[in-house]
Amino acid sequence: MRSFLITGVSRGLGEALFEQLAADPEHRVVGVGRTFTDHQRALAAAEPDRISLYEVDFSTTEPALARPMKAATGATERAHLVLNAGMVEPVGAIGTLRPADLADSVTVNLTAPMIAADAFVRALPAGTPASVLFISSGAATRPIEGWAAYCAAKAGGEMFFRVLAEERPDLYVANINPGRMDTGMQGVLRRSEFPTKQSYVDAHERGQLARARDVAARIISEHVTDE
Ligand SMILES: NC(=O)c1ccc[n+]([C@@H]2O[C@H](COP(=O)([O-])OP(=O)(O)OC[C@H]3O[C@@H](n4cnc5c(N)ncnc54)[C@H](OP(=O)(O)O)[C@@H]3O)[C@@H](O)[C@H]2O)c1
Repeated sequence: MRSFLITGVSRGLGEALFEQLAADPEHRVVGVGRTFTDHQRALAAAEPDRISLYEVDFSTTEPALARPMKAATGATERAHLVLNAGMVEPVGAIGTLRPADLADSVTVNLTAPMIAADAFVRALPAGTPASVLFISSGAATRPIEGWAAYCAAKAGGEMFFRVLAEERPDLYVANINPGRMDTGMQGVLRRSEFPTKQSYVDAHERGQLARARDVAARIISEHVTDE
């Protein structure tokens, strides 16, 4: 039995990863986030030893992660941590941003993945093979006007996980850019104002956004590994 702890599973890429990984009866899946789908709740009720859900809001700096980490790292052939929860807001030029929104963005996109990875590594029993996947963005390496907080948080996250990879060569650690996907996050961008917004509107209208389920399948085939 392998185990997977996935953050932000209520929709978008996280929901697709949860559904595809939970479909294998040899997988134990731990979903962590603010909300869950009816299907996820039904699965957890039907198979409580294999599927579990923990309500955690990553906009706090003390997310309650001890129980989900224990569930994901105990008695497993391989433990996988998938840090997917994220938010693109606030979108706007520097000079127009509210301090509380900047702090929220950093907490959800950067502080929470750091805290979760720290808790995961601490909980991992010695000798248990493990993977840590940080769902990042092209915005980590490319400045996008109007997305300063998101760009900065994803860049910070990538560096944190590069350090983890140096410290722990025994773990499989990856920063993953999933590319543009047709999820709620892209809807937020189409409703926001920033200089390159039209290209996001056009990509949606032309059907150029990837489906979350296709991206999830690619991530699983490329990164859910025995290495
Ligand atoms: N969509 C894209 O084009 C794109 C491109 C590059 C990278 N990404 C990255 O891919 C990942 C998934 O994005 P997506 O497009 O699937 O986004 P999405 O549809 O907006 O879903 C975001 C997920 O994160 C959860 N989340 C947000 N704030 C949270 C909080 N405070 N506490 C707990 N969970 C929270 C949401 O759950 P609730 O709101 O239900 O709590 C939801 O499940 C993100 O890390 C994103 O940065 C996306």
